[in-house]
Parts: sequence; structure tokens; C-alpha cells
Amino acid sequence: MPRYRFPEPPARLITPRALVMDRRSVMAGLGAAGLMAGLPGSGRADTLAAEPWPGSATDEITSHEVATGYNNFFEFGTAKDDPARHAHTLRTDPWRITVSGHANAPGEIGIEDILSGFDLEERIYRLRCVEAWSKVIPWIGFPLRDLLARFDPTSDAKYVEFETLYDPAQMPNQTGDDIDWPYREGLRMDEAMHPLTLLAVGMYGEVMPNQNGAPIRLVVPWKYGFKSIKSIVGIRLVSERPVSSWEARAPREYGFYANVNPQVRHPRWHQATERRLHDGGRIATQMFNGYEEQVAHLYDGMDLTENF
Ligand code: MTE
Repeated sequence: MPRYRFPEPPARLITPRALVMDRRSVMAGLGAAGLMAGLPGSGRADTLAAEPWPGSATDEITSHEVATGYNNFFEFGTAKDDPARHAHTLRTDPWRITVSGHANAPGEIGIEDILSGFDLEERIYRLRCVEAWSKVIPWIGFPLRDLLARFDPTSDAKYVEFETLYDPAQMPNQTGDDIDWPYREGLRMDEAMHPLTLLAVGMYGEVMPNQNGAPIRLVVPWKYGFKSIKSIVGIRLVSERPVSSWEARAPREYGFYANVNPQVRHPRWHQATERRLHDGGRIATQMFNGYEEQVAHLYDGMDLTENF
């Protein structure tokens, strides 16, 4: 039994739940349930996005218990079990996201309209944290670009900035100074528009648990986990590169690009391997977290040691 209370999950989020333990049946089940119907057109990356991350055939999905019990969500404390213990104070309904900046149709959208208005699909992505551990999670969501398209970005929109809710009454550790609140992150426009970049509203066939970033979070599978900002209330289309909260705090440790790159050390530890949380085993970290074929072209001509 979950220790926290969820809002009533939309029926379409429940469908794949029983299938989660077996990846093959998950994917088959999604096809059968018609959840894959929303996949955009064809093309290499689009096709691949419907499958578990590449090279993961032998990788197991992290247990629900670990995925929801070992978290980074500094708004609720800095210990890994703080979010599971404290995130019940977050109220996720009502919830609105404001989209502003360089758009022809700036505005707001409520979580109900998001859940009913986009084609939700299940995608199994690894989340590789900069602390050198990783999880493999069956997310439920839809491409960020589908949401951005509703607001019609102009050609002046070069970057996207995201902001988490700021409300110390609900997020008690925002009274502390671990981070320059609210938590902020950013992507270059082409990264934001890449079909692998997901807005996730659920996982394991359920509505998103509070400690994992309810009701809506980003998942950028080829970047270190800190890019995957939780509990988003603001999206700004901007012309200048935004500075993320972690970059502001420690620019030598957390670069803007944050691409998973085993060759670039974190100043305090190497990044060549990672500990899988589901069994504690260590594996070699893959370039771009295994998505090199899909995303490497975004960084053609860039020095990824300098632009880390
Ligand atoms: N988003 C917010 N708002 N606050 C945070 O502290 N932590 C980040 C990211 N998103 C964080 C956040 C980090 S460092 C990681 S590794 C992932 O969330 C962890 O996601 P998980 O708890 O679902 O594993």
C-alpha cells in the first residue's frame, strides 16, 4: 500500500499497471491499449522513442519501492528518503503551468487539460544521476514539443526555462538555502523539441507520486538527472541561455548541457560507471546515456568537454 495519497488517477494512466513487471508485455500491452497511437510520424528518433532505451535488453526496471523511496527533491529535504516522507504536503490539484516569453500564444494550461489533451504513452528510460547512480523507470508522458506547439513559440525562442513551484508552506525545505529557489532548469530549443524529451505525468502505470515530481516533470534521458526538473509551474521561452539553479550554485560541477558523458569527470568523482539502484551492480556509463545515435547530432562541432 502506498504511504501517500494520490489524486484520483485518470483511467488512461492505469491501463499498463499490471504489465509493468515484464517489459515485453508492457510494450505489447501499450500497443494493444492504443497508447502508442499518439507517436509522432516516422523518423529514426521517433521510432526509437517507442522502445526501451537502446542497449537495455538485459536491464531490469527499478522496483517501484526504490524509485519512489530514494529520491532527489531538495524542496523536501536533502536526504534520499526525505521526499517520500515529506512530499505529502504538496497539493497537486489544482495545478497550472504558465507558458510565457517568445510565443505567439502565451498563456496557461491546467493539469486536467494536460491529462486529457495529449497522447500519453509509456516509455522506459534510464535516469542517470550525476551522483553516479541510475534507475530504469517506465514513465508515462508525452513529448514536451507537443505542449510547446500549443503556445506557438516565435523564432526568438532560443532556449526554454523551467521553474518549479515556490511555496515554502508546501515545500518546507524552501526556507533553507540549499538551492536558490525556485528550482530552475533550461534546455536549448532543439533539445526541448527533440522527441525523446518527455513531460511525464505518471510512472509504473500510476499518476506521478509527489516525491517524483507530481503532477508533471521533465525527463531528458540523455542528460544527468538534475535536468529533469520536477513539479513544473513555469515555462519561459527566452532568447538568452538561462542559468539553472545548480549551475548558479556550483558552475564547475553542473554545466548547462549536463549530457551524460563518461569522459567528463565531475570535479569530485569520475562518471565512467554508475550504480544500478535495483541491484547495486556497477555498469559502464554510456555516452549520452545510450542515446548517442539519436542526439549526438545536436552537438556537432561542439567541444563537449568545455560545454559539459
Ligand atoms: N527537481 C526539483 N524541483 N528539485 C530537485 O531537487 N532534483 C533533480 C531532479 N529534479 C530535483 C529536481 C535531481 S538531482 C535528480 S537526480 C532527479 O530529479 C531525481 O529524480 P527522482 O527522485 O525521480 O529519481
